[in-house]
Amino acid sequence: MKVKPADRIAVVQEYYFSQKLMQIEQMRKAGTDVINLGIGSPDQMPSENTINRLIVESRKPSSHGYQSYVGIPALRKAFAEWYLRYFNVVLNPDNEILPLIGSKEGIMHISMAFVNPGEEVLVPDPGYPTYSSVTKLVSGIIRYYELDEKNGWIPDIRSLEKSDLSRVKIMWVNYPHMPTGTRGSVSLFENLISFAHEHKILLCNDNPYSFILNKKYISLLSIDGAKEVALELNSLSKSHNMAGWRIGMVAGHSEYLKSILRVKSNVDSGMFLPLQMAATDALNNPPEWYDKINIVYKKRRKIVEEIMGILDCKYDKGQVGLFIWGRIPGEIINCELYVEEILNKAHVFITPGFIFGNRGDRYIRISLCAGESTLLEAKNRIMSYISENQ
Ligand SMILES: Cc1ncc(COP(=O)(O)O)c(C=O)c1O
Repeated sequence: MKVKPADRIAVVQEYYFSQKLMQIEQMRKAGTDVINLGIGSPDQMPSENTINRLIVESRKPSSHGYQSYVGIPALRKAFAEWYLRYFNVVLNPDNEILPLIGSKEGIMHISMAFVNPGEEVLVPDPGYPTYSSVTKLVSGIIRYYELDEKNGWIPDIRSLEKSDLSRVKIMWVNYPHMPTGTRGSVSLFENLISFAHEHKILLCNDNPYSFILNKKYISLLSIDGAKEVALELNSLSKSHNMAGWRIGMVAGHSEYLKSILRVKSNVDSGMFLPLQMAATDALNNPPEWYDKINIVYKKRRKIVEEIMGILDCKYDKGQVGLFIWGRIPGEIINCELYVEEILNKAHVFITPGFIFGNRGDRYIRISLCAGESTLLEAKNRIMSYISENQ
């Protein structure tokens, strides 16, 4: 008789990509050359000085011990300067920035720190699946708020206000939005901040995509009165091609950060010092570094748009971020089966939109994290698949 896992895990499934990557791995082992256009893991390199710094610092005998729970001062200072330079937000590096081991863990820490069992959490549909799974894990109640293409994929605050919001503790927002690629705007953020004040809700903006194919950097924290009611997560994963390094941060009022640290300091024991030092250098990359990365993404986006065209999917050309989100044609009955068929017949994996919520059901998402030649090969395979199935 095996020991039973806790009831808690019954409320969540293994992460969709965790299962899918295993399936792709098995197909590859069996000799099928699968092109994975599913996940947003940047394949370009971090800046040269970032890598060099990691190497230099790793060679020092003093680099290998436990580190502070709040990150080294130099990293917090670099985050503060980055926020000032690009988002025009002043943050006190001593107490308004908390480095994280990637921003994903921040979603857990924030939820642990602020959501009591039975309290409600507003979660975007479609949206990053972690907001809902973590809410379930902390026994919060998910209240999906619908995002609609016709409404420009922004929350309908008026209709939310018609409902009872008295038990809502947190609202997750994520602009630039994944998966739809929608930019945020100052007026949207102003409306959200006054909504949060009015209803005493902690508003959390998850902001890892600002630097990808986007030049209008907007932080929720730039809005007057934001620090009273808002937190922002950010990350080097996408912006600096450092997804595997696991470096992110949460910024906001020092009181909020103290609560988050109460959770986090009981969970991990700091971040490897050379990673922190190197991240400090990455945050000081010149603006041209981001431009160079984006020139590559721009060329890739053109090919991905062509793939969307071949699949007869409708998409918004103004999207930002690491993906293209497209609406599948009406005659496709089941998007999940369609994607599965493309995987099995064309050997190209693209993400079905339903994993981001019910509102994503008629959409697919294609990642820009593959080289041009791979994308061209994917395009050819999909073209053959379509012509064979017409
Ligand atoms: C919307 C969103 N938030 C957070 C994350 C997690 O990023 P990190 O690597 O910083 O944990 C992702 C990663 O895909 C994401 O798409």
